[in-house]
Amino acid sequence: MDVGAQDTRIAIRMDDITKVYEVGETEIRALDGVDLEIMRGQFVSIMGPSGSGKSTLLNVIGCIDTPTSGSLRIMDQEVSRLKDKDLTAIRLSTIGFIFQQFYLIPTLNAIENVELPMKEARIPRDDRHRRATQLLAMVGLSNRMSHLPNQLSGGEQQRVAIARALANEPDILLADEPTGEVDSQTSDSILSILEDLNRDRGLTMVVVSHDPNVANRAPRRLSMVDGKIVSDRSGPMITGGNVPRGT
Ligand SMILES: Nc1ncnc2c1ncn2[C@@H]1O[C@H](COP(=O)(O)OP(=O)(O)O)[C@@H](O)[C@H]1O
Ligand SMILES: [Mg+2]
Repeated sequence: MDVGAQDTRIAIRMDDITKVYEVGETEIRALDGVDLEIMRGQFVSIMGPSGSGKSTLLNVIGCIDTPTSGSLRIMDQEVSRLKDKDLTAIRLSTIGFIFQQFYLIPTLNAIENVELPMKEARIPRDDRHRRATQLLAMVGLSNRMSHLPNQLSGGEQQRVAIARALANEPDILLADEPTGEVDSQTSDSILSILEDLNRDRGLTMVVVSHDPNVANRAPRRLSMVDGKIVSDRSGPMITGGNVPRGT
């Protein structure tokens, strides 16, 4: 497939991406011909009803899952036909992922959780420790480094997960319902951290959320229905009477 000329300003490019799951006799088209271009440094949100393919899209972008057909370029490299080992390498060096359920390792404390991806990337012990300390300080958890996940609040666990996602200095940060398990005030502070990362570090950010208060903070807002992107809006929210704050 022709994916066009190389363009280093593009972080993510999908051409006619499909993902088909076969369950018994049934075919589920979780992604149904998605074309999408996200520029480096962009902050994009994705809304859509449950089952519309948001998580599948994020997992394909994040090299956790592979598409059934189509072309996917991540940071100007074709990845749709790479084997597991190469996908893992790209994921480690390029992608940070944040999940609704945090997925911290329960037996590791905060700093050990943040060090884990650096271990996988074979970063030396001293560097790992120094960098994990800096990252936890950045998310405001200097006084929680030795806490186990079950000794932390939901918001604190998600901040550890953000620090972990940044461990290997990714170009792209993907977040799947990052505020789904926390109260609205905590949700606000998590969003502020993500906005700062986007603004100060130029991180490309894709955030899935069914919460308009979260999704509407992104300068570019996609919606999905039935495995397709059905709208793509950019620019500030047009706020009227009772529309929530959009900044
Ligand atoms: N591993 C899987 N096996 C079979 N079907 C799946 C799998 N993952 C997702 N699906 C189906 O694909 C569709 C899209 O799912 P998903 O991407 O999780 O949607 P969303 O995140 O928008 O709720 C749904 O119909 C879902 O049931
Ligand atoms: Mg989902």
